[in-house]
Amino acid sequence: MSVTDTKGICILAYSGGLDTSVCIQWIAENYNLEVIACAIDLGQDHDESLDDIRDKALKIGASASIVLDVHDEFASDYLAPAIAANGRYENKYPLLSALSRPLISKRLVELARQRGASYIAHGCTGKGNDQVRFETSIAALDPSITVLGPVREWELTSREAEMDYATAHGIAVPTTKASPYSVDDNVVGRAIECGRLEDPNNEPGEDIYTITQDPTRADAPNPEYVTIGFEAGVPVSVNGEALPLYDLVVKMNELAGPHGVGRLDMVENRLIGVKSREIYETPGMTALIAAHISLEELCLERELAHLKLNLEHKWSELVYFGMWFSPLKQALDAFIAASQAYVTGEVRLKLYRGSVVAVGRTSPYSLYDHGLATYDASDQFNHQAAQGFMELYGLPIKVWSESQWQK
Ligand code: ARG
Repeated sequence: MSVTDTKGICILAYSGGLDTSVCIQWIAENYNLEVIACAIDLGQDHDESLDDIRDKALKIGASASIVLDVHDEFASDYLAPAIAANGRYENKYPLLSALSRPLISKRLVELARQRGASYIAHGCTGKGNDQVRFETSIAALDPSITVLGPVREWELTSREAEMDYATAHGIAVPTTKASPYSVDDNVVGRAIECGRLEDPNNEPGEDIYTITQDPTRADAPNPEYVTIGFEAGVPVSVNGEALPLYDLVVKMNELAGPHGVGRLDMVENRLIGVKSREIYETPGMTALIAAHISLEELCLERELAHLKLNLEHKWSELVYFGMWFSPLKQALDAFIAASQAYVTGEVRLKLYRGSVVAVGRTSPYSLYDHGLATYDASDQFNHQAAQGFMELYGLPIKVWSESQWQK
């Protein structure tokens, strides 16, 4: 890649880990750019405090280091639409990493504009989905920005080589033994891969989980009921307590995690063509999506429900494939938003030994009519009308059968 301006500015998506720490030095050295580090706080668990992460980047040589708390924006603009869409890639994975990259990209682009930077760098490898999500999001938000992916370019392929490079440049290297796993996390939960998990036939050990507990353990808690309130498809309360969405997801992680809800062991199809094995723990979102699906069963008119089910799959695929800001995704968002107008009410969930089941639901807009559904004496359904309906509904198939199939 050719770099024309000699001392341009590069905004680096900084996590505080070894890869992005090395990126600071490597970009300055190989691209002759001034590097501004930016760490985005989406509720992930940090080994170090955010202040320490900020200082670390400055020590390595970043010209500025910024930490942005995006909790509320993540919840309102990314998690709320994901819940409305019942968003799960390949019908399973609740998109935790896929939801975060567009927001990180958005904030990096804003910062690039404020600081007059024409470069943005990320620390993704060439094999994953996240590089795609960064680059498609940045391309959509500001096509004039050049994206750098140093980890894809450098020759520091082994961890030892990277540690040696870091030591040679005075970058503090981790003192604790490196975890064999690669983890990405945020308030939605954790994605865990690599190490012995790379054999899809190896059952993960309990050691990989931090926010859910073993649902099969002898002292697993008794069944617990939790009531979620929704307004127009957005979760607004837990057990009657109104909460902002970010806090509500945190609360649901705390309630569902001890029951071992939301663990997922999956072989998934990455965009770049590789199958990969990933373990997830997403207790809160798993419970909230289960509750949301149950309320939609009560409140969505049949044809709307059926079409939405098909479009949810497409929505999730677009988000997984890095198309958050694409015109099709935006059009689907408009459809999904319109579908949520009457998804208001309460759902009672039962949490027990790894399962979350909706066991009760109420809504002021419920389409469930007891008089129509009941088989008891209060039945108001017109049985005679059913006979006429059958005659007309079955007419085309009858004619077809007589004239062709059974002829
Ligand atoms: N497979 C997930 C996705 O593409 C998670 C990616 C990051 N996982 C990780 N363990 N670092 O969205």
